[in-house]
Amino acid sequence: MDFKIELGNRHSFIEDNLKSAIPNVQGPHGILFDSMKYSLAAGGKRLRPMLLLEACRISGGDIEKAMPFACAIEMIHTYSLIHDDLPAMDDDDLRRGKPTNHKVYGEGIAVLAGDGLLNYAFETMLEASVNSGEDCMRHIRAANEIAKGAGVFGMIAGQTADLESEGKRVDEATLEFIHMNKTAQLIIRPMRAGAILAGASEEALEAITEYAKNIGLGFQIVDDILDVIGDQEKLGKNVGSDIEKEKSTYPSMYGLEESKRIAFDKIAKAKVAISFFGSEAEFLLGLADYITDREF
Ligand code: IPE
Ligand code: IPE
Ligand code: MG
Ligand code: MG
Ligand code: MG
Repeated sequence: MDFKIELGNRHSFIEDNLKSAIPNVQGPHGILFDSMKYSLAAGGKRLRPMLLLEACRISGGDIEKAMPFACAIEMIHTYSLIHDDLPAMDDDDLRRGKPTNHKVYGEGIAVLAGDGLLNYAFETMLEASVNSGEDCMRHIRAANEIAKGAGVFGMIAGQTADLESEGKRVDEATLEFIHMNKTAQLIIRPMRAGAILAGASEEALEAITEYAKNIGLGFQIVDDILDVIGDQEKLGKNVGSDIEKEKSTYPSMYGLEESKRIAFDKIAKAKVAISFFGSEAEFLLGLADYITDREF
C-alpha cells in the first residue's frame, strides 16, 4: 500500500460525502447554513471520519452504512473548532487556511453555526438509526459513543480544563486530563462507534480503543509542538497561540525534545495495540506514523 495515495483517496471519498451533508437553505435563517458550510468545507485532514470508517472496515463492517456517523463526527469536530477560535476562548483568526468563522460571520452567527453543526450531527446519526432496521441497536450504541466523546465527560470537559489552566502551572495529571478529553475522546469514541456499527468483538474493541487513546494523545502533543515550531502557511492556523494565551501544553511542561519523545512513545504503543488486526492494520499503522511526521 502506498500510504500517501491511500490517504488521498480516503480523504476525497469523505470530502464527496460531506459536500451533501448540509442542505442548501435560503430564507431568514439562510446565513446559518452558509456559516456552517463555510467551516465544514474549509478543508481539514478529515482524520476523525477516516478513523471511524477504518475501524468499521477492519471490524468487518459496511463503510457505506457508517458514512452518516463519519459525517456527523466531522460536524462535531468542526463545531468544536469554531467555538475554540472564538474571542472568548482561544481568540484565533485563522483556521484551515481561512479567516475563522466569527471573523466572517460575526460572533453571534459563529456561536449558532457551532450549535447548528452539533445538533445536525445528532439529527444525521439518529435519522440513520431510525432507518437502520435490525441494525438499530448497534446504531444507538454508536451514537451513544459519539455523544459521550463530545460531551461533558469528553471534549467539553477537556475544553473547560484547558480554559481553567490558562496562565497557571498545572500538574502532569491535569495536563493529561486536558489532552485526553479535549482531543483523544473525539478520536477514541468515533473509532469505537465505527467498530460497534460493524459488530466488533470485545477484544477487537479493546485493541481499537488502546490504539485510539495513544494516537489521540500523540496527536495533541504534536499539535502543541506545531504551535511552537510549525509553519503558519502549512498549518493554516495561527502559530504561537498557546504561548500568547499561556496555555498548559506538553512543550511548556516538558520542553520540545521530551514532548517529541513522549509523542513517539504513544505512537509506538498505538502500533502494538492495532497489530491485533494483523495485515488489516496496514493503513492504521501508516496513519500512526503520519501523526508524528505531519507538518499540518
Ligand atoms: C485541530 O484538529 C484541533 C485539535 C484537536 C488539535 P485537526 O488538526 O484535526 O484539524 P483539521 O480538522 O485538520 O482542521
Ligand atoms: C483544541 O485544542 C481542541 C478542540 C477541542 C477544538 P487547540 O486549541 O490546541 O486546537 P487548535 O490548535 O486551536 O487547533
Ligand atoms: Mg483550545
Ligand atoms: Mg485553539
Ligand atoms: Mg493547538
